[in-house]
Formats: sequence, C-alpha cells, structure tokens
Amino acid sequence: MDSISKLFDLAKQTRLNAYAPYSKFKVGAAILTSNGNFYTGCNVENASYPCGTCAEAGAIAAMIAGGDTKIAQILIMADTECILPCGNCLQKIAEFGNADTLIHSADIDKIVKTQKLCDILPQAFTLMEK
Ligand code: THU
Repeated sequence: MDSISKLFDLAKQTRLNAYAPYSKFKVGAAILTSNGNFYTGCNVENASYPCGTCAEAGAIAAMIAGGDTKIAQILIMADTECILPCGNCLQKIAEFGNADTLIHSADIDKIVKTQKLCDILPQAFTLMEK
C-alpha cells in the first residue's frame, strides 16, 4: 500500500474513535514523518469546551511521544468536504513541518485537496531558523 493510502486508512480508522459528543463533528488525522513513521490522532472534546483538542494536536502529540519531530505529510479527515486544519493547528504543524509539508484534506471517501503548508500558512510565526 502506498503511503498516501495508508495515511487515508489510518485517519479514517482513528476518526471513528473521536470523542465529539458536543459538536458531533468527528475528525481523524494521520501524520507521515520524514523518516517514514506514521502517527494518528482524533479530536477529544470536553464539557468545558475550550479544553477540547483537535485531531491534529493528538497526532502531533503522538509523534513527539514516539520520538519523531518532522512532519512530511498530514491528512485530516471529516465527513464533510474540504476540512482544513484550524489556525491553531496550522501553527502546530508549522512547528514540525516545513514549506513543502503536504496537507491532505479528505472526506470519508477520498482526498479532496492537497496543499503545501506554505500555501495555507505563508508566514508562520517562528523563533527558529528552519
Ligand atoms: N477540529 C479538529 O479536530 N481539527 C480541526 O482542524 C478543526 C476542528 C475539531 C474540534 C472540535 O472537536 C470539532 O472539530 C468541531 O470544531
């Protein structure tokens, strides 16, 4: 299986575990790192709404816990077309990605759009030279 199909399948599977009783909007995310490892996350909501976390944040936390730091590709899936990472998550992705990091937006059937991080967040805040 190619790496994009694997990202798709992992995000789809992980999305099923999303805890989204308030928004009912389940999101799955899967990361492929530059050294070929995969990590997943889903959104985890909370009765205190601001405590909830996005799927991308979960996948990034799993990646860091797993010892990886470089995002080559990330796929985000919801049951609507054209889900893009929220602004907060774009900044999180920028921390561990680069201009060429690919962001795939998918619904539960297919990848709808693939964009580079630099096209979505051209001027990310940074304190470090990449
Ligand atoms: N959500 C994500 O998981 N990722 C995004 O990039 C946008 C929004 C989640 C947060 C919340 O649980 C639900 O989607 C509705 O906003």
